Amino acid sequence: MKFKRGLVKRKMAKIIDGKTISLDIKNEVKQIAENLVEKGVKPCLAVILVGQNPASQVYVRNKKTACEYCGIKSLSYELDESISEKELLDLIDKLNENKECNGILVQLPLPKHIDENKVLLRISPEKDVDGFHPYNVGLLSIGKAELKACTPAGCIELIKRSGVDISGKNCVVVGRSNIVGKPVSMLLLAENGTVTICHSKTKDIKAVCKEADILVAAVGIPNFIKGDMVKEGVVVIDVGINRLENGKLCGDVDFEEVEKKASYITPVPGGVGPMTIAMLMKNCIVACKNQNNI
Ligand code: GUN
Repeated sequence: MKFKRGLVKRKMAKIIDGKTISLDIKNEVKQIAENLVEKGVKPCLAVILVGQNPASQVYVRNKKTACEYCGIKSLSYELDESISEKELLDLIDKLNENKECNGILVQLPLPKHIDENKVLLRISPEKDVDGFHPYNVGLLSIGKAELKACTPAGCIELIKRSGVDISGKNCVVVGRSNIVGKPVSMLLLAENGTVTICHSKTKDIKAVCKEADILVAAVGIPNFIKGDMVKEGVVVIDVGINRLENGKLCGDVDFEEVEKKASYITPVPGGVGPMTIAMLMKNCIVACKNQNNI
């Protein structure tokens, strides 16, 4: 766009506001929870924390606060670091049987002496509100998941609620983790995106990223995606939450550079982060409705 005196006016990227979108979702959940209570059903989430990992303590506190906001009952289990694997599995068995409890969340990571996989497998798939159980992962891969992993589902909500159509778009996912990269790829595919997954062994990541209409960055490397790796008009979802030496948070995307070319971009913090808990709340409602045949 030509400007007076030859200056070129640049179109600014729209910032995708995860705080506002997550609040919208929590308000929707709150409304549904109220309707369920009128039917005599109170949604309920069990939150299990083992040990004293400070980050996990913050996450768990935020999850319980969100439950309160949404009108979901939370059962809190704060267990000592030294708890045995069997004791934890016994608690999960008990919660699986408990008709009042609709969702079970075991905050990760677990102490080294506990086998995480064994624990996740023990959670009944219909109460697996994290969407980590292989049964739910399998459903996701055939496009039939009801309980979808929260962060990936949050990415899709951010894209859709910004008015961006995924169908037919070149979607590039950077990172292939089980909790973000792989499931978000499946969800983009279910939305009819043409999906490419990049990882540490990809030959020319820059060339692949440059083809992206929608780019999801989930590598865990601060500022990994640079301005010269994206094309003009790209929609960028930054899943990274990296703590820099100066204590500041930053994403996997070099926001300053990429924002100049993107049409839409999520900030860090305030983008994908708040969506994870909002989608967890949504999963609690889905689990509760399914268990009560509503
Ligand atoms: N630890 C970090 N993120 C998560 C999450 O989404 N769910 C659980 N259960 N633990 C986590």
